[in-house]
Amino acid sequence: MKLLAVVLVAAAWAGFGSALDNGLALTPPMGWLAWERFRCNIDCVNDSYNCISQNLFMQMAELMADEGYLNAGYDMISLDDCWLAHERDQQGRLQPDPNRFPSGIPALANFVHSKGLKFGIYEDLGTKTCAGYPGVLNHLETDANTFAEWGVDYIKLDGCYSSHEQMDEGYPEFGMHLNNTKRPIVYSCSWPAYQNDPNYTAIIKTCNLWRNFNDIADSWTSVTTIIDHYGDNQDALAPLAGPGHWNDPDMLIIGNFGLSYDQAKTQMAIWSILAAPLIMSVDLRDIRPEFKFILQNHRVIAIDQDPLGIQGRRLKKSGSIEFWLRPVTPVDNDNHSYAVAILNRGDSTPTRVSFTLKELGMTSAKGYWVEDLFEEVVGISLMPSDPLTVSVNPSGVVMLKCSLLK
Ligand code: GLA
Repeated sequence: MKLLAVVLVAAAWAGFGSALDNGLALTPPMGWLAWERFRCNIDCVNDSYNCISQNLFMQMAELMADEGYLNAGYDMISLDDCWLAHERDQQGRLQPDPNRFPSGIPALANFVHSKGLKFGIYEDLGTKTCAGYPGVLNHLETDANTFAEWGVDYIKLDGCYSSHEQMDEGYPEFGMHLNNTKRPIVYSCSWPAYQNDPNYTAIIKTCNLWRNFNDIADSWTSVTTIIDHYGDNQDALAPLAGPGHWNDPDMLIIGNFGLSYDQAKTQMAIWSILAAPLIMSVDLRDIRPEFKFILQNHRVIAIDQDPLGIQGRRLKKSGSIEFWLRPVTPVDNDNHSYAVAILNRGDSTPTRVSFTLKELGMTSAKGYWVEDLFEEVVGISLMPSDPLTVSVNPSGVVMLKCSLLK
């Protein structure tokens, strides 16, 4: 009953009454996706360790289960592009590359399920996937049925090689076929990423999550471009998000080559403020412990997974400092608790930032319990007008949770 009330409040905030109702992704999906780290490496002859093959996914699934990622909430592992054979089989059904996936997809799905994880797959609405493998166009029903039979729990449906009209018709139609299979399958659409003026009313009704901006790459520039896009367009984007339907700013690149320790914390913090899907794309076989620690930070993950599902916003910029805020539980009448990320976009030294909670819009007369989510320090209790000073590293972040005191 309490949860229902929470969901209703969130729906009211989001302002959309008719969201997709497959009952899935009530909090942003969490998992692992191959693309950003492993791309379309199909060279299993010379690079068998890194190529897109069943071995790679089995190794990652094992590590997700054994190394604490599943316990932290990352409960899905997904293929991305380049798993397919170039031809359909004689019955017109999709098939994987026989050399790289010799056991077939159902066996891989079974293995993934045996580790307690959900299994995700990638396809494309058009004639071809972005990397040129067979797309689902003209085979929508067959392919939805195939995926359900194979034990797929999550699908990322890309939009290369399809027209705007084909997307506007095809994404809902494929979603209908998925629903008709009766298998619960989380539906990730790239539909708005390929359109200038997406029909979000239809997208929210159809998809559990959607990409709507550039592909992420392994660099701080890429991460900040995405952060700026979400901040600059927050009036349009933030109201779209809520339980069951999320904006997807793309994968977490934490643990790869392009982000420093501080920058990795920044990606984790801002993605959580944005109620973004937390989909890692990293080699879990050799990730450094400090990055694993960031990915498994349960207090930041709890912000991302807050049941209200309200997407946060960039409240203000002052010099190189940005304040990002997200309303979260616990709530007390009209008052929310808040997650706050204070981001330093500068490139000089750590910067001291002084502010009051009142300046950020927190006015509860009972005060707030304030905790630093990345540092193991004891929290403090603050009234709205009490001064607070934090030190924020260049391209780094301080993330606080300010919980309402009763
Ligand atoms: C598009 C998507 C990426 C990835 C590639 C695969 O660019 O946005 O996330 O899936 O296709 O080819």
